[in-house]
Amino acid sequence: MSLETRSLGYTGEQLTGVGLGTWAIGGGDWQYGWGPQEDKESVAAIRRALDVGINWIDTARIYGLGHSEKIVGEAIAGRRDEVFLATKCGRHWKEDGAVYGSLTAADVRRECESSLKRLKTDVIDLYQIHWPDPLGEIEEGWTEIAKMVEEGKIRYAGVSNFAMEQLRTVQAIHPVASLQPPYSMLRRGVEDTLLPYCAENNIGVIVYSPMVCGLLTGKFSKTRLAGLPANDWRRGNVEFRAPAFEANLALVDGLKPIAECNNLTLSQLAIAWVLRRPEVTSAIVGARRPDQIEETAQAGNAVLSKDDVLAVEKLLTRRLETIAAAP
Ligand SMILES: NC(=O)c1ccc[n+]([C@@H]2O[C@H](COP(=O)([O-])OP(=O)(O)OC[C@H]3O[C@@H](n4cnc5c(N)ncnc54)[C@H](OP(=O)(O)O)[C@@H]3O)[C@@H](O)[C@H]2O)c1
Repeated sequence: MSLETRSLGYTGEQLTGVGLGTWAIGGGDWQYGWGPQEDKESVAAIRRALDVGINWIDTARIYGLGHSEKIVGEAIAGRRDEVFLATKCGRHWKEDGAVYGSLTAADVRRECESSLKRLKTDVIDLYQIHWPDPLGEIEEGWTEIAKMVEEGKIRYAGVSNFAMEQLRTVQAIHPVASLQPPYSMLRRGVEDTLLPYCAENNIGVIVYSPMVCGLLTGKFSKTRLAGLPANDWRRGNVEFRAPAFEANLALVDGLKPIAECNNLTLSQLAIAWVLRRPEVTSAIVGARRPDQIEETAQAGNAVLSKDDVLAVEKLLTRRLETIAAAP
């Protein structure tokens, strides 16, 4: 079955409903690592994504401190024309590994040059500011990115984790092709204002962590959590700790019959749910193995009914009540 596509804002680029996210592929060896990761598995996952029809990949220089970009570059060698390639800038690391933000013109340009090399490409399709950090440098960084668009190093410029005012600021300098915000059943902050603003202004929306970093896939349990490697950042995340973790597992249990009625897996349901919003261009879905992306790729074609959406809404309300009532 071919994968359906949606238009990325003003660019008109057609992206599949699922794009491959490559944060976890960076491995465990840094502050926000996901535990050990075999590069062979990562390359196989990326190639499998292309084989099943996914036409775009999201990475960032910070993922694995350059490692994710390097693996993406290796995996797509010889297949560059099949991929709309997105990466991100603005996150740096100190000698002790501590991550910090810089958006000076010199840093942004240096990062872009190094990303082009690691990705083994002449041009990056979508170059995004990863975080509006430091706030006082977003105009400087964005202006430099606009220059690199003119120079042909970058095709389109986007932002991630930006609030409305920050979007307005950069939009006045150079058109924003896309916003990359978090969006999932557990993180709905963009629904009321940012999504409508993007639609009104022809800005594409590529949402991240739609399965809450694996939590909504149905593959998490107390035992799995306890067995996560020490260098998997999820161990410390609030959604993986009491009282949220128990409420999240109960939510996943409640989602099972909705997924079954639609012939979807839980992972596919979580992705289809974010894609129900017409303002969303694509969901960025992480995978560490070929079988994972094979399962999730098809979710971009699923359509949920009004009743399904209402049923999910009830479960989400119950989850919030459970967390609020927890001692
Ligand atoms: N801009 C930003 O600040 C930002 C922040 C976060 C993410 N992102 C982007 O968004 C992408 C996606 O987000 P994410 O990776 O955080 O979360 P996600 O897509 O919600 O979850 C991905 C994780 O779920 C597990 N998984 C994937 N497919 C599965 C399947 N079929 N069955 C069971 N488990 C499965 C894998 O981890 P395990 O196998 O280890 O469980 C995988 O790494 C990232 O890779 C990155 O490109 C951007």
